[in-house]
Amino acid sequence: MSLWEKMYQDKRMTPEEAAALFKSGDVCVSNGQVTEPVELLEALAKRALTEDLRDIRHYILLPLRNQRYMAEEMQPHLHHVSHFVSGFDREAIWEGRAEYLPSHYSRVPSVWRDVLGAPDVFYCTTAPMDRHGYFSCGTAADLSEIRKGAKKIILVVNSTMPRTLGSQIHIREIDGFIESAAPITEVAPPPITEDDKTIGAMIAEQIPDGATLQLGIGGIPNAVAQALMDKKDLGVHSEMFCDSIVDLTLAGVITNGCKNIHRDKSTVTFTFGSRATYDFIDDNPSVEFLPVDYVNDPRIIAQNDKVISINSCMEVDLFGQVCAETIGPKNFSGVGGQMDFIRGAAASKGGKSFLAFKSSAKGGTITKIKPVLTPGACVTTTRNDVDFIVTEYGMAQLRGKTCGERAKALIAIAHPNFREELTAEAKKMHLIF
Ligand code: COA
Repeated sequence: MSLWEKMYQDKRMTPEEAAALFKSGDVCVSNGQVTEPVELLEALAKRALTEDLRDIRHYILLPLRNQRYMAEEMQPHLHHVSHFVSGFDREAIWEGRAEYLPSHYSRVPSVWRDVLGAPDVFYCTTAPMDRHGYFSCGTAADLSEIRKGAKKIILVVNSTMPRTLGSQIHIREIDGFIESAAPITEVAPPPITEDDKTIGAMIAEQIPDGATLQLGIGGIPNAVAQALMDKKDLGVHSEMFCDSIVDLTLAGVITNGCKNIHRDKSTVTFTFGSRATYDFIDDNPSVEFLPVDYVNDPRIIAQNDKVISINSCMEVDLFGQVCAETIGPKNFSGVGGQMDFIRGAAASKGGKSFLAFKSSAKGGTITKIKPVLTPGACVTTTRNDVDFIVTEYGMAQLRGKTCGERAKALIAIAHPNFREELTAEAKKMHLIF
């Protein structure tokens, strides 16, 4: 038996034994999304209730399952802090059972290092140990560097987690682990609408062969990907690896052959999607999962040429200020890497960034292009950073345009039902005359 196998035997625990490693007041942080250590949190929640452990804080970015820690009864015991709001913690945040911590995704690790301090526990789900004693971080390497200061590291080792290349945690580093064979969470891609396809085709026209892509969350980035099938030698340097990257890679469109850094590899920090995507990334040397403080650093992003960043938002005002996080003051999602990639693309030779969205919401009753942002809405991308805005009615490059030119260009791609009203408001605001 190798030393690593011996350590494996010694550090294997039951969920109850692992839960016993926590104490009241512990501050705990996980890698994101699918790698949340669900079985461990379940055991911890049970113990916290029965033994009255108090004030344990659980930090994660974009949870993808309903979890007991968000229940009312858990609040004195286990409190959730979100680094990016999802459909699973949104309601809890709106009702005061959880909180959101704003930060550019690239800077979350430095928020821990410089402000919050070392966590008591770093935990996450990983792939099984390899023969060299390493557990692959699987579908998320985002916050994996934070473990280096943590007082304890506890893993859930899941046999269905793909073994991705990039960030790994060694058996030497950890205090204990539990095993699981429960299928990891799959997420179906959002349906692609006709409007998404129209928008996707417009953006695809702007993407040159040899470009390096960042594709964000939502139906539109997937629609763009589908419109890229006739391009050549595209590359990927993106926070998220999405299902459509698999299709483009298998079609020979993504080769990563023109990248200046990490050539021949798609470089990302997390994925969630279908089992087919998880099988594709398993043991695949063409994809590397690296920590977000590296992947999303605008200085790293900009080292590739022709970086194309594609994201979405909730609303834009006539100055070009973009809200991608809130509906009024209520947090709907988070900034994620939107600004990281917009700034990275701006600094890349030949780079461009696109914010694309359907021009109206709620069955055409709400315009997403507004005279001013809704009171309470938070600015995600400032008017000084914004580049292209795209709706199903066209594309406006705001960079290089005056305030008046921006207002006119935005009104031209707003939903036709709102253009007259927007023009009248723009006149009142002395933007157009
Ligand atoms: N006012 C009121 N409601 C609005 C609205 C607005 N201005 N804009 C959107 N909505 C509603 C929609 O109607 C929809 O509601 P429904 O689910 O009841 O139909 C819901 O909000 C989601 O809108 P949609 O446009 O479908 O969202 P999406 O899935 O395309 O995602 C973002 C859009 C902005 C939430 C998403 O891109 C995001 O979280 N971005 C932020 C960070 C980012 O870009 N990070 C980098 C990449 S990860």
